Amino acid sequence: MSRSKTNDKHALYLASVQDPLGDVERISKIFEEKFSKKALSLREDFSGTFALSCCWVQSDENRSAQAIDNDEATLEYGKKNYLGNMSEDEQKRLKPQLKDTNSITEPCDIVVAFNFSYSYIHERKQLVEYLKKVHASLNEEGMMIIDLLGGSESEILEVQERLIDNNDQISPFVFEFERKSFNPISRVAHYGVHFKYDDGTEILDAFTYDFRMWTITELREIFEDAGFSKTLVYWEDFNDEGLGNGEFYATEEEENSLNWNSYIVGIK
Ligand SMILES: C[S@@+](CC[C@H](N)C(=O)[O-])C[C@H]1O[C@@H](n2cnc3c(N)ncnc32)[C@H](O)[C@@H]1O
Repeated sequence: MSRSKTNDKHALYLASVQDPLGDVERISKIFEEKFSKKALSLREDFSGTFALSCCWVQSDENRSAQAIDNDEATLEYGKKNYLGNMSEDEQKRLKPQLKDTNSITEPCDIVVAFNFSYSYIHERKQLVEYLKKVHASLNEEGMMIIDLLGGSESEILEVQERLIDNNDQISPFVFEFERKSFNPISRVAHYGVHFKYDDGTEILDAFTYDFRMWTITELREIFEDAGFSKTLVYWEDFNDEGLGNGEFYATEEEENSLNWNSYIVGIK
């Protein structure tokens, strides 16, 4: 199949930063290690196009998912491009919901908020309130998992770029993640995601975010204040080039590096 350029920002985002199949494997493994059983129900908060929820229901015929996002166009994209291509049975087990993540939902085994999206919440009080609601909605044996980026270069202005050449439909392109500002007083950073082809075609600020750069220590204390019995930190290992390799392990002590990724897991 020949490849071509696309201006579909969700397809470019999926190819650049998402790994929903890998996410399902990693989340499932952590849950099984903690509770010695298979997780069946998942809620994906700040779900965007809910690619993760789609892979979740496809990974086991007993699995169900709720995907929560407050942006109609984004949810509609997921319904049309992902959900619409799934079997009738898989579609029945996935409920995309246009609402705020603070809304009441059905109980579940796992709540996940990936790609740092809880960082839209800038105030500690509001984050505690959100996590209290998550805690209340989890089954007795349940957990919340979030991801977090950090490192000594995570508080300066920078552009991280990667060549993306992994898709049989989309021509190679460069993905850029730009930190446009970081206010050390509020710890709010402004980000832009850009996609660039080598012929000069580009989509600048395809996505923009104002994220509070929470620290691991703050987040663990906030989970505790929201009622979680315990938190665990999982650290992403590095490959030979010093880049994250998608393998995470539980740890309590690490050396800082320029850029790192981690998960925080809150156990109900
Ligand atoms: C950074 S994207 C993350 C998408 C997806 N979780 C991922 O891993 O790629 C954040 C999403 O959160 C949604 N969002 C922001 N605030 C929200 C809120 N209060 N309630 C529900 N969704 C929200 C946005 O519409 C956007 O689609």
